[in-house]
Amino acid sequence: MKTPEAGSEIVVGLDLGTTKVSAVVGEVDADGITILGVGNVPCRGLRKGVVSNIEWTVRSIREAIDAAQTMAGVEIKTVYAGVAGSHIRAHTSDGVCAISGREVTRADLERVLEGARAIPVDADRMILHALPREYVVDNQDGIRDPIGMSGVRLQVRVNLVTAATSCVQNVIRCVERCGLTVADVVLEPLASAGAVLSDDEKEIGVAVIDIGGGTTDILLYADGGVVHTSTIPAGGNNITNDVAAGLRTPMAEAERLKRNYGCALGRMIADDEEIEVPGVGGHAPRRVARRLLSDIIEPRVEEIFAEARRRIEETGLLEQVSSGCVLTGGAVLMEGMVECAEEILGMPVRMGFPVGVKGIVQLVQGPQYATGVGLVRYGAEQLSESGQRVSFGSVPRSQEEAVPAGSQKSGFLSWLRAAF
Ligand SMILES: Nc1ncnc2c1ncn2[C@@H]1O[C@H](COP(=O)(O)OP(=O)(O)OP(=O)(O)O)[C@@H](O)[C@H]1O
Ligand SMILES: [Mg+2]
Repeated sequence: MKTPEAGSEIVVGLDLGTTKVSAVVGEVDADGITILGVGNVPCRGLRKGVVSNIEWTVRSIREAIDAAQTMAGVEIKTVYAGVAGSHIRAHTSDGVCAISGREVTRADLERVLEGARAIPVDADRMILHALPREYVVDNQDGIRDPIGMSGVRLQVRVNLVTAATSCVQNVIRCVERCGLTVADVVLEPLASAGAVLSDDEKEIGVAVIDIGGGTTDILLYADGGVVHTSTIPAGGNNITNDVAAGLRTPMAEAERLKRNYGCALGRMIADDEEIEVPGVGGHAPRRVARRLLSDIIEPRVEEIFAEARRRIEETGLLEQVSSGCVLTGGAVLMEGMVECAEEILGMPVRMGFPVGVKGIVQLVQGPQYATGVGLVRYGAEQLSESGQRVSFGSVPRSQEEAVPAGSQKSGFLSWLRAAF
């Protein structure tokens, strides 16, 4: 095992998905992030983004970490772990502090964010993130970065993301059973967004829709800040189930047919295209029109995008999502997804691949790696925030602001560990 170069740090993102565990190893220095290795292992220990079987999850984490470690040639001790699922909630909160006529400093930002976090949450929930939407200095609102401004009163409006404590505890428990430490727990769609969005998109307003195996996560940016996050409990696995039932074929075959011939928009398929469908229970294979497959897939995909649109509309911020929607997660690899999303969402849509890293990038090129890469970028940013790293150009400003150094969450993590 090699040790990282002087002036660099190893940051590992651990994406616990419903279908796979991904460990992404990055080396962070002043020039950015270099991907050194990836471990990608199928996992059946989660349901709808939430750990449901500790043993299976631990086994997959171990395998993913071992593979990533071997490829990267470094020892992994600490990870940034993703959390997701329908237990995640988000609402706005305000924080205020006095600055008494002097210039706003980073310490003031930390103080005012602590204030925004200081609200009662249910006993079984914890605050995951306090994501700044805007700052107000005296009467001037809409400020993105108040450092250096003068005034007597600093106010912040944040999007407060909370999670069920037990779900976060289970993630930490699984990771620690593998002999690893959790540096931080991070909302998965926030990590995915950090990997696939440009600063401009966040500034102008954008929706990120991450369609994985078990869940579809939505994250909305407007005016440079996160304004909404929610989870739809459906994803690529539902599509596979529909195909297995509709074509009466085993799940593994349904998955293969979906990946190889699936299409989210039936009219993109020529009428004479045919596919071979293996039978179940000794029945002979049969040839069917490829259009039949898309007739099964299309309603499910439409349902997911219609629900996503409904959630975006509900925020009242549809008009502010000016740069449109970015699709990520493994399920968006299916033909016709972008076109179908454009029709239903009524906005420009593009596919989101992880960007902003170098090294063995071909290993993390697909949209299914957005969360893993995003977790590394998030971790790198935390290092830079806490002063361990010098300026780190490739990470967007708004994400940098989202993570106050020495946040309350670190204290909470130690408390969670002590509680086991
Ligand atoms: N080429 C493809 N065409 C269609 N679907 C695909 C393709 N490749 C992967 N998928 C689907 O993507 C899904 C897995 O995506 P991903 O790896 O992002 O999910 P996950 O992170 O494990 O799950 P979640 O985020 O829901 O917890 C599976 O349902 C899989 O069938
Ligand atoms: Mg995922």
